[in-house]
Amino acid sequence: MKRRAVAQRIDELRREIRRHDRLYYVEDRPEISDEAYDELFKELQRLEQEQPDLCSPDSPTQRVAGQPVAAFPTVVHAAPMLSLDSDKDEAALRRFHERLVKALGREPRYTLEPKLDGLSVEVVYEEGLLTRASTRGDGLRGEGITANVRTIGAVPLGLEGERRPVPGILAVRGEVILRLADFEALNERLLAEGKPPFANPRNAAAGTLRQLDPRITAERPLDVYFYDVLAADHLPLSTQQEVFAALADWGMKPSPLARPATTVEEIVAFHGELLAQRDTLDFEIDGVVVKLDDLAARDEVGATARHPRWAFAFKFPPRKEVTRVERITASVGRTGVVTPVALMRPVEIGGVTVARATLHNREEVERKDVREGDLVRVQRAGDVIPQVVERVEEPGRERPDPFRMPAACPSCGTALVERGPFTVCPNGFDCPAQVAGRIQHLASRDALDIAGLGEERARLLVERGLVRSLPDLFDLQEGDLVPLPGFAARSAANLLQGIRRGADAELARFLYGLGIPEVGVKVARDLAAHFGSLAALRQADEAALMQVPGVGPRMAEQIVAFFAEPRNAAVLDRLLEGRVR
Ligand code: IVH
Repeated sequence: MKRRAVAQRIDELRREIRRHDRLYYVEDRPEISDEAYDELFKELQRLEQEQPDLCSPDSPTQRVAGQPVAAFPTVVHAAPMLSLDSDKDEAALRRFHERLVKALGREPRYTLEPKLDGLSVEVVYEEGLLTRASTRGDGLRGEGITANVRTIGAVPLGLEGERRPVPGILAVRGEVILRLADFEALNERLLAEGKPPFANPRNAAAGTLRQLDPRITAERPLDVYFYDVLAADHLPLSTQQEVFAALADWGMKPSPLARPATTVEEIVAFHGELLAQRDTLDFEIDGVVVKLDDLAARDEVGATARHPRWAFAFKFPPRKEVTRVERITASVGRTGVVTPVALMRPVEIGGVTVARATLHNREEVERKDVREGDLVRVQRAGDVIPQVVERVEEPGRERPDPFRMPAACPSCGTALVERGPFTVCPNGFDCPAQVAGRIQHLASRDALDIAGLGEERARLLVERGLVRSLPDLFDLQEGDLVPLPGFAARSAANLLQGIRRGADAELARFLYGLGIPEVGVKVARDLAAHFGSLAALRQADEAALMQVPGVGPRMAEQIVAFFAEPRNAAVLDRLLEGRVR
């Protein structure tokens, strides 16, 4: 290709990739498959390698750039990054409102936003190009974490100027978060590597942003929402709603779920609504931020040394509580991994009564030194399994000996084996706890989504010998269920209907539900799209599997091994004999 033509193609590819980045990361409505995206990306990488002088810092290929650093430089913010006055009592919210009514001499208009439980960052654009990003630090100066922030897909490397002119200098503030599913996946990976997991998504996001090696940050899918302009050389905006519109025009994702309000009653209602939704969101929030919508009115009321007077965080109850461990038991999951579980004196955490929390593995129990009878701090995030964060010291109290993992599987009695930091029951096919775990997984929301088939019922079906292996689930009759505790004619019929409906689920859901090692929701979807049928997937070798984006050698090996295992093959054959479609 001629140089001119190459330059043109590079330009075209960058535009196209940026558009897809925006659709995927910002608008959450991708138009092309990961595979098609990878093709474009690889072509751009190749052309830029051929013509290194055509490379530019805002090219999508330059997100992960730069070497590990020894320390982060100190950065002075374009404007102080204040924190918020906060309280969880409605009376404090009323006082905030009344102060504003008095100061402004009128009833103000507010914008309400969820208070995202992440890390505040400043991102600076000069002539539309991302030049600097930093943590909040002490509010005046933070740590320069530019290379790390560049790896976040939802942070534009260059602002879009088609819909609205871009200021020469623009400093924005946003909140970096890690979504719950990504938090869980990260913790699973850390645990598998024998490393301590993070206590909550916020700590995980903080730890990730403060990685000295941006390549590590890039492996963890951080996300970001923007909510404030800290400084700009020219900014004809007069309300928070207009700030959101401008941010979106430039290609940034504004605070989700925001809404206007004028009265305290509306604020209280929104607080209640978000609190009720809290467990269904895929990110952590810890309250509602109430802000004057009118930017000129904000200047009028000003700020104290630490807080603006125009904003208030109306907090939710905390998700961390202290309670006492009554007993530590070992619980066997669907993959055979034996997890130490703390059975605790029930405690209400953010509206849910919690009586069990995971201690992850034997190394974590040792590291935290949690024993029966100890006082512990327990934390819950979304519908993620609650975890014991730490032991609360009680000087002078007598404590029993440390917890020891059992030698035999508490479900089937098979001798347990140690694999790295994990203790595993090797009796995968016949261990009742593992069979019940597999049923529960197959029935779960992202798999066949069979309502009314949770942990307890899965265990019951296995205990009563009604289900010995997954295919048996689809042979259940009403007569099998009605005599069981907790069932009546109606609930039995409902469950059977759910199972029948589940049998018609899409391939991706079914694949995920099989619980193939390493195959999560996303990989299952990619595999289904690539192979189109279970038959084609079963025959794929490692090379064919690695054609699918996101499937590496380790995963390919595990998938091939799964289908090659004769007992898995038998299960699949039986499922396909008219039990699932
Ligand atoms: S506005 C001057 N809006 O909450 C206004 N903050 O102490 C400053 N936060 O440090 C913040 N979601 O990290 C604002 N929608 C939101 C927010 C938000 C989360 C964080 C921010 C701040 C802390 C409050």
